[in-house]
Amino acid sequence: MAIDAVIPAAGIGRRMGSAVPKQYLQLAGKTVLQRTLEIFLNSPLISRVIVCLKEGDPYFDSLPVSRDPRLIRAPGGAERCDSVLAGLWCSEAEWVMVHDAARPCLTGGDLRLLAEEAISRDGGLLCAPVRDTMKRAGEDMLIQGTVDRNGLYHALTPQMFRRTELLQALEDAASRGLKVTDESSAMELAGCRPLAVAGRADNIKITSQGDLELAEFILEGHRRNGIV
Ligand code: CTP
Ligand code: MG
Repeated sequence: MAIDAVIPAAGIGRRMGSAVPKQYLQLAGKTVLQRTLEIFLNSPLISRVIVCLKEGDPYFDSLPVSRDPRLIRAPGGAERCDSVLAGLWCSEAEWVMVHDAARPCLTGGDLRLLAEEAISRDGGLLCAPVRDTMKRAGEDMLIQGTVDRNGLYHALTPQMFRRTELLQALEDAASRGLKVTDESSAMELAGCRPLAVAGRADNIKITSQGDLELAEFILEGHRRNGIV
């Protein structure tokens, strides 16, 4: 079963506020994007890796991974979902795994777990159960109530679907003017019930400054404990 990876990496990292987009910041001796792409290029389950880059990206060609023959460049779009669509157009695989460039702490174990679970169903995504008590607040920041945390999950990536089904779902969402922030949302709008696959909570998305130090700590823990 052929699986391609699509890695949206065309964001500007507004919340990080660094001079260089966050996917090109250094993390334990390599750039974040180099690390993320290595996870997929090192997996025997993945055929090709499609990376979506902002037009005129001056950084990518200097990454060692840019010369890998299994890597394909796709143009990025205005929103994450536009970048993902451009990436999907470059694939011919039956299945695709979409994964944020900004999540370099994904383990090979979770990648494999998702592949095994999603393929036996109609697709799925890595999720982590919510741990804290959940509150809903109004714009005035006054608490309106407590939300039952039972059955609530953080949606992580990768998210894996049949390529043609995901392509159709994302195009339908776009034509309805809906900006979906993950692939599962598009599939849900199309009437599907993606499978939530419990993954590691340390598969964090690097968003703001402190996250880089946290990611370094997580990777060091993986290394020390032999987690791959
Ligand atoms: N992304 C993309 N194309 C866009 C916007 C985002 O390919 N037009 C990618 C980012 O590069 C990132 C992933 O989608 O790997 C998740 O997005 P996010 O974490 O929001 O990254 P940014 O949009 O770059 O950050 P910010 O929202 O703070 O600007
Ligand atoms: Mg963003």
